[in-house]
Amino acid sequence: MKVTVFGAGTMGRGIAQVFATYNHDVLLIDVEQKFIDNGINGIKSSLNKLYEKKQINEEPAKILERIKTSLKIEDSKGSDLVIEAIVEKFEMKADLFKKLDEFLDPRVIFASNTSSISITRLASMTKRPEKFVGMHFFNPVPLMKLVEIVKGEKTDENTVNYVYDLAKSLGKIPVKVQDYPGFVANRILMPLINEAINALMEGVATKEDIDSVAKFGLNHPMGPLELADLIGLDVCLDIMNVLYQDFGDQRYAPSPLLKRMVASGKLGRKSGEGFYKYK
Ligand SMILES: NC(=O)c1ccc[n+]([C@@H]2O[C@H](COP(=O)([O-])OP(=O)(O)OC[C@H]3O[C@@H](n4cnc5c(N)ncnc54)[C@H](O)[C@@H]3O)[C@@H](O)[C@H]2O)c1
Repeated sequence: MKVTVFGAGTMGRGIAQVFATYNHDVLLIDVEQKFIDNGINGIKSSLNKLYEKKQINEEPAKILERIKTSLKIEDSKGSDLVIEAIVEKFEMKADLFKKLDEFLDPRVIFASNTSSISITRLASMTKRPEKFVGMHFFNPVPLMKLVEIVKGEKTDENTVNYVYDLAKSLGKIPVKVQDYPGFVANRILMPLINEAINALMEGVATKEDIDSVAKFGLNHPMGPLELADLIGLDVCLDIMNVLYQDFGDQRYAPSPLLKRMVASGKLGRKSGEGFYKYK
């Protein structure tokens, strides 16, 4: 099978790596060569680590041979499946899918890795909503087992079952979910993080103690504030905004402290500072 992955960032590179590891031919497309180069370097170092730890048996160089790259969307012609993992902006995703819809065979399945945008809304930008599905992988893709398979209003059962089985064949644990804001994972996780930020804002406990409560009382592998720093506070805020707007329910209102930190550029690990400081 030939799969084209759009976006060589955090998620796209991981998705490309997993498909290539499981013997599929992959085309990885981004808008600038430097993003492609970063993506391929990231894949190389991840494959090397997995190989050293004997978590994969095939030599990294052989797996890499199955990943081709391009800057031109037309090169996705001949794909059986496209997976979009570009930035989380509706207009950009819609624009890409509209263009692809023009020249790709109508049988080609379109999948989006979006964390929070409605699959139904994205699908409606194309003439193939029945072949449009969410394939929501988790970060880091090569290690995280879960894939939420999101059924839009018009997605047909064959498409859902096809990507469900495909995810399984990649060693993942897929779950089928309906197209509601945040699907399941973010609908559960983001309010938890948001509430931890509110607790910090109100001075209920220190950041370290809030994280300790989750780790040592709830048996979470990471505290919610550490996790927010890892995910990116801007990403957390975007997802809370989607939940808040789409459900229209006050309980999803983003924490004022979260908003303030994002406005000041404290985005977590990627900016060097969030709730904690990073080198
Ligand atoms: N980071 C996460 O933890 C995570 C987890 C699950 C889902 N997601 C979702 O995955 C998607 C990608 O997130 P990310 O964290 O990898 O983002 P990222 O910013 O790391 O990477 C996005 C990449 O897309 C590229 N891009 C932008 N427009 C493009 C286009 N038209 N064609 C090809 N490439 C284009 C950018 O140059 C960039 O390299 C988002 O929808 C996000 O919500 C992210």
